[in-house]
Amino acid sequence: MNLTHIEHLGIAVKSLETAIPYYESVLGLKCYAVEEVAEQKVKTAFLKVGQTKIELLESTDPEGPVGKFIEKKGEGIHHIAFAVPDVQAALDEAESKGVKLIDKAPRGGAEGLNIAFLHPKSTCSVLTELCMPGK
Ligand code: CO
Repeated sequence: MNLTHIEHLGIAVKSLETAIPYYESVLGLKCYAVEEVAEQKVKTAFLKVGQTKIELLESTDPEGPVGKFIEKKGEGIHHIAFAVPDVQAALDEAESKGVKLIDKAPRGGAEGLNIAFLHPKSTCSVLTELCMPGK
């Protein structure tokens, strides 16, 4: 599938206001962007470690995907996002290998990325995002 690196880790938090100070004051990272992604019912905050980002996800709706995740599992790692050169090609390859897809085609995510998710049923329970810069 030609993964190039871990683009980001998505971490579900109850409150960005509580989480960001931990990442900044304890881990010494810098939050460089906060963005609401209405379609996914989340507010996101981004920090960078080398070339990998940490994407903190606060739900804006209990019925949204992150709201439901926190209700079921509590705060914690929500997904891993791999960079690929071509999301659609990677999706097609995954599907041809029997992987269940959440997204059949890439859609817009935070930071202008084109993103798509593989279903955790097919990925040893790790929600897996494939992404590349948007055009
Ligand atoms: Co993500």
